[in-house]
Parts: sequence; C-alpha cells; structure tokens
Amino acid sequence: ATDGLVDRFGRVATDLRVSLTDRCNLRCTYCMPAEGLPALPRAKVMTRAEIARLVDVATRELGVQQVRFTGGEPLLRGDLVDIVRDVAALEHRPEISLTTNAVGLDSRAHRLRDAGLDRVNVSLDTLDPDTFATLARRPFLERTLAGIAAAAEVFDLVKINAVLVRGVNLDHAADLLSWCLDRGFELRFIEQMPLDADHSWDRSAMVTAAEVRGLLGGRFALAPDHEPRDGAPAERFVVRSVATGERLGRVGIIASVTEPFCGDCRRTRLTAEGGVRDCLFAHTETDLLGPLRAGAPDAVLADLWRAAMWAKGPGHGMSDPSFTQPERTMSAIGG
Ligand code: GTP
Ligand code: 5AD
Ligand code: SF4
Repeated sequence: ATDGLVDRFGRVATDLRVSLTDRCNLRCTYCMPAEGLPALPRAKVMTRAEIARLVDVATRELGVQQVRFTGGEPLLRGDLVDIVRDVAALEHRPEISLTTNAVGLDSRAHRLRDAGLDRVNVSLDTLDPDTFATLARRPFLERTLAGIAAAAEVFDLVKINAVLVRGVNLDHAADLLSWCLDRGFELRFIEQMPLDADHSWDRSAMVTAAEVRGLLGGRFALAPDHEPRDGAPAERFVVRSVATGERLGRVGIIASVTEPFCGDCRRTRLTAEGGVRDCLFAHTETDLLGPLRAGAPDAVLADLWRAAMWAKGPGHGMSDPSFTQPERTMSAIGG
C-alpha cells in the first residue's frame, strides 16, 4: 500500500486524469471530426460507483493526490455532481478539478463547488461568435461565456485554455489575453497536438510557443514566473503592460510539441471505459474495468495499474521518424 505509480525512468504519477465520457456537444476541429464519433455503449462506460472505486484505489494505494475530470465533455454526465461528491468523500481526498467547455456550467457551478470541486479549466479559443462557430462547429459562444461567468463567481481560480489555429483565431490571441487579465483568469495558449480525427495536423503549420511569445510581446511584457512548475504542462509568465509597467496577471504557454515536458510528467489517465493510459500518446491501454467487474480486489487493481505505468515510455516521441498518431482522438482519450 506504499508503492506509487513509478516508471522505468523514475517518474512518479501523482496526477490522475479521468475521462468521464467520450461524448461532446462541440466538434472542435483539432479534437473531433465534424460528424462526431460513434459513442461508446453506455454499459462500457464507468459508472459513478466504479469511478469512485478506482479513484479510491489510486488515492489510497497508489499515492495519487490530484484528480482532474475530463471528457469528451464531463458536463454531459448527468451524475457529475454526485461523482465529485463521492470522490470528495474518499478517505484520502484528492484535489479535484474539471476541464470543460463550460456549456451548461452556469446551472451547475454552485452545486459542483458545494460537492467539493476545487477549480475548473475552461476551453475558450476566441471571443468572436463566428470564429467560435467555425472552430467548435457549434454556435455556443454565449453559453460558454455564461458558464465561465458562473465559474468565476464560485471558484477562486479559473484557467482558460486556448488552442491557436493559424488563419482562424491566431489574430485574436492578444485580445483574448486582455479579456482574461481583466477578469483575473489565467489564460494558457496550447500548441496543437496531433490528436485530431482527420490526421491533418501539420507541424510546420502549427502555431508555436515561440510565435505566441513574439505575438504577445508587442502589447504585453512577459517575464518568466519563478514559482516551481512541478511537472505542470504550462510554462507561466508574469504579464505587465508595456506602456505603464503595471502588473496585469499571468499567462501560461503549453508547448507540448516544441518544448516537451515529458521528462517531468506526473500524469496517469483513465479512459471513460476504465482503461489506464500511461501517456496521451500511448498505443496501448490496460483495462481495469473488466477486472473490477469480475470482482478483483483493490490490491489486484493497484498491481495492474502499477504495471501499466511501469511501461510508460520516455515521452511522446513526436520528433522521432517512427512517430505515429494514436488511433483515438483527444475527445476519446481525455484531454
Ligand atoms: P493544471 O495545470 O493543473 O491546471 O492542469 P492542466 O493544464 O494539466 O490541465 P488541462 O486539462 O487544462 O490541460 C491543458 C492542456 O495541457 C491540454 O489541452 C493539453 O494540451 C495539455 N496537456 C495536459 N496533459 C498533458 C499531457 O500529459 N501531455 C501533454 N503533452 N500535454 C498535456
Ligand atoms: N492539441 C492540443 N490541445 C487540445 N485540446 C483538444 N485537442 C487538442 C489538440 N489536438 C485541448 C482543448 C481543451 C483540453 C482538454 O485539450 O482545448 O482545453
Ligand atoms: Fe506525459 Fe505523455 Fe504528456 Fe509527455 S505526452 S507529458 S509523457 S502524458
């Protein structure tokens, strides 16, 4: 009961990302195909009780300290509030966070907070309704903004995730930052990764971290933040006004492709079907839900999980000639 999720490279996974569903109500071009994907049959998806059981094993036997719920879109689970409450009631209560598109969050933010949710990260790529509809293929900007407003009322910390796509929302980056700084949100710009359905990702077309820093530099002065990064994907910067030097807040840049942070990775993942993925870019999964449903005790589930993470590779290997994109899209893996 003391051995954590260690891999051959000495990394220890203490951060668990749980995908609650493969379904989503948006169709962001970098994450899902326009026509959607066949949804998993309900019987294959972890139930509320199964999620609590596996998170209990992770926190009690395997040293997991932080749990993030993702999707697909986790708000599509009608029992999300209950799932959060169950996890908050575990013997070793983890920090609990949510990554969401915020559509429908307005009516549930208070209940999620009361159930024990600690913080939220919301995906928002642009403030322009037409651009939003182009990128997300759904005209839901207003609903997303309503969700963010509700989140801001109840959570101390709201982070915003933006993927920049050349020719679509790149020109909106500085305005989006300004909007986030005004509201005290921590915006993070994310390099697009090859996790789309059409396999149309092109490294040479991707908006890089260096490009984002250059782009923002005209309007804001960015200085490296000195707080420890602790394995987090985002490199953080303190933002000041170029004109007055006034401190405006912080911004993060997630440079998964050009400045990978795999060497300090602390993540383990559960898919909505209860499979352990040792990496976003893994090509295999270790099923825990089958054994759980067959009656496996906690110790057996913990051993399976440890063995799965021991096999984790050194990194995503995107620069290797032999790199191949995973079969599953981001929506099915769990961002
Ligand atoms: P906090 O820093 O705890 O707020 O969370 P986070 O940034 O890890 O979570 P979030 O779900 O908001 O993820 C933001 C982005 O980070 C995702 O869209 C991914 O692009 C990237 N990301 C998250 N986890 C990984 C990972 O394991 N590997 C890589 N390469 N990128 C990741
Ligand atoms: N590359 C990088 N980030 C992505 N996300 C979705 N697909 C990709 C991709 N291909 C982001 C979303 C969301 C987070 C969970 O993952 O914007 O904020
Ligand atoms: Fe960790 Fe894999 Fe993400 Fe790299 S790509 S940070 S190894 S999960």
